[in-house]
Amino acid sequence: MKKGFIFDLDGVITDTAKFHYIAWKNLAATLGITIDETFNETLKGISRMDSLDKILAYGHKENAFTTTEKETLAQKKNDEYVKLLADLSEADLLPGVHDFLVQAKEQTIPCSIASASKNAPMILDKLGVLEFFGHIVDPETLTKGKPDPEIFIKAAKSIGVEPKDAIGFEDAQAGIEGIKAAGMYAVGLSATETLIGADLQVASMTELDVEQLINQ
Ligand code: G6P
Ligand code: MG
Repeated sequence: MKKGFIFDLDGVITDTAKFHYIAWKNLAATLGITIDETFNETLKGISRMDSLDKILAYGHKENAFTTTEKETLAQKKNDEYVKLLADLSEADLLPGVHDFLVQAKEQTIPCSIASASKNAPMILDKLGVLEFFGHIVDPETLTKGKPDPEIFIKAAKSIGVEPKDAIGFEDAQAGIEGIKAAGMYAVGLSATETLIGADLQVASMTELDVEQLINQ
């Protein structure tokens, strides 16, 4: 029987990828770099600074800025991203998420968040689901990003669950790889991409039943 759930945030709990995309696209445009939705897919699950580095490399400007200048650029992107989140509310939860979290609570299955986003606590608060999570891993404490399993191992331990007894939920390939490397059962959430290595893939959380999932 599985004993804990570890959730990615963006693309699993809510769809913030579209807002990240707008903010990065606008910032990139000011630097003379054009990014499209296909390129944006490669930014999913990637930290803010690593995303900026990827965009600069894509535009052949990897050596154009100092570390301080890059921090200013990343801050500028985040300022716009946070503004785009101003109206986020419970209505922005992805289908089936609220019901799934309620079921988990009823079954006393602890839940934690493994997201690279420094905005995760604020976003969960706006979505009205903060109370369902025993812990949110602080990305500042990580030495490596996804696909490294570090974030998932920390998320499991933070709620007193061994990784082998946990189930991880992810929408990005790097995340599925991290969950599997942590020794967990991986549930992939995507209606469009095939997530290689996922133990189970569904289009949305509406297809999942907590009792069935923990007892398989
Ligand atoms: C998630 C998203 C990424 C984002 C990262 C950092 O992993 O999928 O697109 O870059 O979080 O988010 P932040 O809110 O800290 O800029
Ligand atoms: Mg994600």
